[in-house]
Amino acid sequence: MKKIKKIGILTSGGDSPGMNAAIRAVARTAIHQNLEVCGIYRGYQGLINGDFTSLHSRSVSNIIQRGGTILKSTRSTEFMSVEGRKKAYDNLMKNNINALVVIGGDGTFRGANIFRIEYDFPIIGLPGTIDNDLYGTDFTIGYDTAINTVVEAVDKIRDTADSHDRLFIIEVMGRDAGFIALRSGIATGAEKILVPESPTYINNLIRLLQHDWSKNKTSGIIIVAEGDDSGGAFEVARKINENFDFFDTRITILGHIQRGGSPTAMDRVLASILGYNTIIALLDGQHGVMAGQVNKEIIFTPFEKSIKHNRKMNLKLLEIARILAL
Ligand code: F6P
Repeated sequence: MKKIKKIGILTSGGDSPGMNAAIRAVARTAIHQNLEVCGIYRGYQGLINGDFTSLHSRSVSNIIQRGGTILKSTRSTEFMSVEGRKKAYDNLMKNNINALVVIGGDGTFRGANIFRIEYDFPIIGLPGTIDNDLYGTDFTIGYDTAINTVVEAVDKIRDTADSHDRLFIIEVMGRDAGFIALRSGIATGAEKILVPESPTYINNLIRLLQHDWSKNKTSGIIIVAEGDDSGGAFEVARKINENFDFFDTRITILGHIQRGGSPTAMDRVLASILGYNTIIALLDGQHGVMAGQVNKEIIFTPFEKSIKHNRKMNLKLLEIARILAL
């Protein structure tokens, strides 16, 4: 492998709170190790378009507390093509960049893996997604902030649910994964949590609601992940209303408020520690891997293993949540 003198850094896919803290940690550690740092705007699309900027210590000042990503982000379809990746590689060569640090989720690592195999190019990844759906880290950067945002919102909705004797069906993010729904559901005492990892049977759900009603519950919260097989909050509400009209139902889709905002201390610290270790590992010859923290240990997982389908949900937690909400 060629000696690494200059690295490129990009953020890709859905933004997540803590990405800026990760950029800061990567850039400053790299500079401390006498590397040059090139910021690449708009993820893989910026790599294709040559949308580059030099990063210095002061370029990443005052960003640890900011949500979003100063490097901006896209989901590039052009990078999925051989021609797009060729343009990206040519730009890396033209700018003497010897290695890449990519911050993102599942799609980011799939793209990185294809590219590094195609061009034998060193790439190392940081888990930046609110979905927490990557294997090889207990938490992804942004998940804790997103959960806290959801909890704050659901607590507020609970006030109205309780005051007006209503059943709220609240949809949270997670196109293919229910980790946001599960954790926020436990934290808010939701009556039922619906996730893609476990099939949803509306008849069972209605039976549970009838049981709640018979036990004098006059209000409730159902958290549904957007990717749940029920079809989302509107579908769940429609089917409940068709079969059981004891509750006055309302729907809330939390949407992109879950992706923004100032990162929690936990996300800032995780991003900082992983960012530092990523550069140290890269200089130590590691690539094709994602940095993560498991049981407080820093570990590196090959991209092909880190992707979401390898991460299993502890379904027992759904049962516990239901018992605690009885
Ligand atoms: O991958 C993160 C995520 O927030 C998913 O939970 C959600 O389904 C998706 O991004 C939404 O993406 P977009 O902002 O492109 O609509």
